Amino acid sequence: MMNARLSAIGMAVPAKAISNHDFEQIIDTNDEWIVSRTGIKMRYHTTENEFTSDLCVRAVEDLVANHNVTLDDVDMILVATVTPDQPMPSMACRVQHRLGLHRAGALDVYAACAGFGYGIVMAKGLIAGGSHRKILVLGAETLSKVTDFSDRTSCVLFGDGAGAVLIEADETGNIRPGCITGASGEGGADLYISGYATEIDGLQLNMSRKIVQNGRKVFKWAVNTVTDQMQKLAAMNGLTMNDIDWFVPHSANLRIIEAICKETSYPLDKVLESIVDYGNTSSASIPLALCRGIRDGRVKPGDRIMIFGFGGGLAYAGVIFEWKG
Ligand code: ACO
Repeated sequence: MMNARLSAIGMAVPAKAISNHDFEQIIDTNDEWIVSRTGIKMRYHTTENEFTSDLCVRAVEDLVANHNVTLDDVDMILVATVTPDQPMPSMACRVQHRLGLHRAGALDVYAACAGFGYGIVMAKGLIAGGSHRKILVLGAETLSKVTDFSDRTSCVLFGDGAGAVLIEADETGNIRPGCITGASGEGGADLYISGYATEIDGLQLNMSRKIVQNGRKVFKWAVNTVTDQMQKLAAMNGLTMNDIDWFVPHSANLRIIEAICKETSYPLDKVLESIVDYGNTSSASIPLALCRGIRDGRVKPGDRIMIFGFGGGLAYAGVIFEWKG
C-alpha cells in the first residue's frame, strides 16, 4: 500500500481588511464584545467581483512560489467549500482549467468547516488505493457572500480565504494511518445556508440563503465533540495528545479552542489558529493557520501535527501528520 505525504502548502486572503471598528458603523456592536466573545480582531472580505475560485488559484500559485514542486502531473484536485462561485461547474473544475492542470480529475468536497480535513482523508485514501499519485487539496471560502450583515450575532464572525496543500504518493509518507471522519447529522438545522427545501427535519428554514446558526448549540457541540474525538484520533495512532506538537482545530471561535484546551489539558500555546487575524473562514481556516505556523518558523521539520475540522452538517474530520519541511 502506498503512503501519502503532505509536502507543500500555500494560502491566499483578499486585500479588503474589515476591522471590528468597521462593524461599529453598521450594527450595534463594539470591539470589546467581539474580541472577548470570539477572539477575532480582523477578517478579509472579497470584493463584488472576486470569488472563491480566484482565491483557490492564488493559494495554489502561492504554494508553487514557496516550494520546489511541479504541478503538471497532478492527477486529482479536491476543493472543500460551501461557497462555490456557482453550484456548477465545481470549483475543482475551475482550478483545473485556470491552472492548466489537464491531467487532473476534479471534485468539490461539501463538508463545511470539516471539508479540508475530509479532503485530506480522501486524498490519502486515493493514494493508498493506488489510483492516484499527486493530489491538490484546497479549503476555500467567500463566507462574506453568505453573511447576513443585519445579524450581529453572526456577521462579525466570518471571513474569506483559501489554503492549498499538495499530497503525494511516497514510500514512507507523513500522514498517519488512523483518521477520524464523523457527523452528527441530527444537528443539521443548527447551522445552515438555505437552498431549495424550506425545512430540515420539520424545522422551517430562514430562506435568506445566508448563514443561520444556533451559536450556543454549535459552540457546545463543538467543544464536546472535538474534546472526545481528538483524543480518539491520537489513541488510534498509538499516541496521546502529549505527543502532538501542534493542534490545528477549525478556527470558529477562540473561546471554543480555549474550552477544548482546558477540557483536555492541552497547552493553548501549542495551538495554531487563524481566528484572530482572519475570522472564521470555514474550510480555509485550518490551512491558513497551518501555513502561517510553517512560514513563521513555529512549525519545525519533524513536528507532529493534528488537524481537526468541525462545523456545518454537523460534520467533523481529523488527521495527524509529521511536517517534513
Ligand atoms: N455585539 C454585541 N453584542 C452582541 C453581539 C455583537 N456582535 N452578538 C450578540 N450580542 C449580545 C446578544 O444579543 C446577547 O445579549 P443579551 O444577553 O442581552 O441577550 C449577548 O451578546 C450574549 O449573546 P450570546 O449569543 O449568548 O453570545 P455567546 O457568548 O454565545 O457568543 C457566538 C455568540 C460568538 C456566536 C458563539 O455562540 C459562537 O461562537 N458559537 C459557535 C459559532 C460557530 O462555531 N459557528 C460555526 C460556523 S462555521 C460556518 O458557518 C461555516
